[in-house]
Amino acid sequence: MIREPIAGPRAWTRSTIRESDWRIALPSSCLDEIERLARALERDPVPTCLLDPADYELHACRGLLDEVRRRLDEGPGVAVVDRIPIERLAGRPRIEAVFWLLAAMVGRPVVQTRDGEILVEVTDTGVRKRIGVRGYRTSVAQPPHVDNSFNHAPPDHVSLLCLRAAREGGASRFVSFCSVHNALLAEHPRLLERLYLPFHQDRQGDFWPDEPQTVFFPVFELRPDLRCRYTHFTIPAGYETAGVEMDEVTRAAFEMMTRVVQDPELCCEFTLRPGELQFVNNRWCGHGRTAYVDDPARKRLMLRLWHRDGGSRRYRG
Ligand SMILES: [Fe+2]
Repeated sequence: MIREPIAGPRAWTRSTIRESDWRIALPSSCLDEIERLARALERDPVPTCLLDPADYELHACRGLLDEVRRRLDEGPGVAVVDRIPIERLAGRPRIEAVFWLLAAMVGRPVVQTRDGEILVEVTDTGVRKRIGVRGYRTSVAQPPHVDNSFNHAPPDHVSLLCLRAAREGGASRFVSFCSVHNALLAEHPRLLERLYLPFHQDRQGDFWPDEPQTVFFPVFELRPDLRCRYTHFTIPAGYETAGVEMDEVTRAAFEMMTRVVQDPELCCEFTLRPGELQFVNNRWCGHGRTAYVDDPARKRLMLRLWHRDGGSRRYRG
């Protein structure tokens, strides 16, 4: 357990993070490359999951995405590229291809579901949030969390391309789990100790019939630096699925974590606009969103990739 306050650029709060720390404008050199790339893809298409940035002239974009990766790993853990001209890319196949090629320069894309999906739509499918339904298919609020906290190998980085915003709500919200850790260490050290011990988590339907429906992982781990596996929904769902009562300290630790990750003094919030690319370090930076209401004719739509450089590309890692 870390027993000293965490310092440095990872431990930001609402009052210390500036927009220039996470927002990166797309320079005209990158814009030119992206437009040339879209024309090349239109004339000479390649299936999206076979696209390799090394096959294209993307020198300026490579510099930009190297800077994104630096901000994810050595900076605040969140970055937004402002913005890809999706309206000029001549349709969804080119948009997906450009997203794939840019995001693949941040990290290797990996499978996101047991069924082998690698490029996922984040949109409200109309299903109700319940055990077994993953949050990206609904419009409910999601407090800052880690994607795939219930898997053996969660992605290291998560990227989103906004295609359409919601009519109301759907703001992105971020928190540094290093700052959450600092707040808990200062105010609730005993509960923080409990967060270093395992919690049951429900696997949200993404497990095989010969496997258990829950996993048992700590919320905070040192591997070798701080790594977090907090998700507000999967932990109580895990206790329910496993048929285990939370004891008093377990419940208090989970509830305090849930309160602190949503502390307005710690969170940074903004609304993604169409064409903006959002990246997050999924190891120690939480991301979430407020609930949203769609225009039924133009539903909020994001494309999502998960990235992990180690292990295999398979869902189980
Ligand atoms: Fe998420």
